[in-house]
Amino acid sequence: MNKPTSTNKNPNYHKLLPYLDNREFDESYALISHYIQSNGNAEAGEYRKRLTERGINVENLPSVDDFNKMFNIPFPANETKFTFIDLFAGIGGFRLAMQRHGGRCVFSSEWDDAAKQTYFENYGEVPFGDITKPETKALIPEKFDVLCAGFPCQPFSYSGQKLGFKDKTKGTLFFDVCEILKARQPQAFFLENVKGIVSHEKGKTIETIRSILTEELGYDLHECILSSLDFGLPQKRERWYCVGFKKKTDFEFPKGTNSGATLRDIIDLDNDDPSLVLPKFELDRIKYHFAHADEIRVKHDNSKYAPNTKKGKYGVYSFQKPDGSLRFHVGDPAKTQIQEAFYSCLDSYASTIIANRTPKLWDIERRLSVRESARLQGFPDEFRIPVSDAQGYKQFGNSVSVPVLTEIVRNLIEHLEKEDK
Ligand SMILES: C[S@@+](CC[C@H](N)C(=O)[O-])C[C@H]1O[C@@H](n2cnc3c(N)ncnc32)[C@H](O)[C@@H]1O
Repeated sequence: MNKPTSTNKNPNYHKLLPYLDNREFDESYALISHYIQSNGNAEAGEYRKRLTERGINVENLPSVDDFNKMFNIPFPANETKFTFIDLFAGIGGFRLAMQRHGGRCVFSSEWDDAAKQTYFENYGEVPFGDITKPETKALIPEKFDVLCAGFPCQPFSYSGQKLGFKDKTKGTLFFDVCEILKARQPQAFFLENVKGIVSHEKGKTIETIRSILTEELGYDLHECILSSLDFGLPQKRERWYCVGFKKKTDFEFPKGTNSGATLRDIIDLDNDDPSLVLPKFELDRIKYHFAHADEIRVKHDNSKYAPNTKKGKYGVYSFQKPDGSLRFHVGDPAKTQIQEAFYSCLDSYASTIIANRTPKLWDIERRLSVRESARLQGFPDEFRIPVSDAQGYKQFGNSVSVPVLTEIVRNLIEHLEKEDK
């Protein structure tokens, strides 16, 4: 994964400078905010030590409650039924779900500066940076209950199947997750990834992941593919979820029966922002489709496309699915066809939202706004978006469906509590 570049010369977390005696140093914002959010708890000790080594006086800092009030933090941790760490934290979708069940975050890591700003604005904490660095890992508290990570999926080395995780997963971010599990031995973990991880490299990737987590690290593993559509969101987003426990459990994933949500539930019908309107080219071809809607599959004028391109050569077709969505594809349906565009409508759902793809609706002739994208992932409207629209779309596309996680965490925590008895 490419290293992110800084986007803003004056990020919102610079508001913390007075608490740092107006001095910046490596991870200074993450240290001071982690210290304030954890003050009074065991894990604050290490953060305090690092700050005092740098000559920062931590005696006169505000209490966590005063700090959260002062900065008007919308999602503070309210209780500590259990603790967790938030790796590859993005904008904290895991954190929202864990906090809803009484979790308190004791460490977060995310290296993208724009995501850090959204995280700070909502939780009052700046995540630490690159988790692959030993100095970052050294800051993870010795004790916490659950490790959360939506780690990016990368190819592993499959040579030498007898080798341990260090050799098999070297250079991947999954390796860093395993290293932390091995060093800290939390009671449980919660991982999320794309559905394709199961078939990635013909199934070898998932086999490596399973064998390392179970045989090498000794966790009882439970996995499932769940769709956000079944958890009350109008988005077909299928993801791989995996939880592991130190002790054997009869954990079960929630089934999710809350179907039937449509985009109408999350769309602001009075939003007439011109920047959201579909380009003329797209509006014209949608109109063309409906003008010829008596045909099952409408063939579009391919003279618009250069003859040496796939569209020019094989043609562009459109058809409307029974659920109301309008699909455009390249090529004869009897032969290989490539989906080219997906237009939802108010009474259907959206396809998976990803970093560089915003759902579009043919009936209201526009794409979703950033706020609607947040709702599509189940983020409440109180969630603040302090970044540009481009960053906002990227952050919600990269994030997780909060209601799905909330339901999984409900079951996960029940099992942790049983273990404690
Ligand atoms: C798929 S996203 C996870 C999003 C997150 N679950 C959420 O709720 O928003 C993966 C995140 O990992 C971050 N990341 C990738 N490599 C990293 C590294 N070496 N250290 C810290 N963060 C990293 C990316 O910037 C990205 O935000």
